[in-house]
Amino acid sequence: MFITLEGPEGSGKTSHIPHLVEYLRGQGYVVFPTREPGGTSISEQIRSILHDMKNAEMHPRTETLLYQAARAQIVEQVIKPRLAAGEIVISDRYADSTIAYQGYGHRQDIEQIRALVQYATGGLVPDLTILLDLDVEIGLKRKQRGNEWNRMDAYTVEFHQRVRTGYLEMVKQQPHRWVVVNAEQPWEQVQQELRRLMEERLRGR
Ligand code: TMP
Repeated sequence: MFITLEGPEGSGKTSHIPHLVEYLRGQGYVVFPTREPGGTSISEQIRSILHDMKNAEMHPRTETLLYQAARAQIVEQVIKPRLAAGEIVISDRYADSTIAYQGYGHRQDIEQIRALVQYATGGLVPDLTILLDLDVEIGLKRKQRGNEWNRMDAYTVEFHQRVRTGYLEMVKQQPHRWVVVNAEQPWEQVQQELRRLMEERLRGR
């Protein structure tokens, strides 16, 4: 089973995943966590280019293609083999981030972006995608307090608002694949909801 977590900046995905993985392993599941962009040596190198504040001149099309390059590598090197071995792969972001950020955020043609994503993933679609949704300004403030501020975070608030709108639009388009969790709730409550949702899905498979 392939599960992805998505959300605007500061939604807490990254802090929730290790706890979720530990919990699910305790329940006897074989779980492999990964993240995008990243998760392989090549993809982590591409991540550094994408996030480097020095690369402020990067064009949206360059950005879009670099995310796809990082993705093609992790799909082939990690995600597909793990899924084929029967493992549960949980990814901190995946293809929907490209639709939300490069498509809605940068206002590039969504159909062209979908075609690129299809090419990069070879058509691999998650079984379940959880959107950790929250007010964009709350999320950006959370992120500013941490020390992970990167080139993407520095885009305007309006950009990040379009990203959130894009996610909510995708939920409407494919309600069977998406579940929305309110990430403005206290951390413990979000974690409980995530555990419940995943177990429900895993028991039902
Ligand atoms: P994060 O690991 O802190 O979530 O950083 C990843 C950043 O990259 C985040 O700002 C979202 C962005 N991103 C895209 O713009 N497109 C993509 O396809 C992916 C995977 C991430």
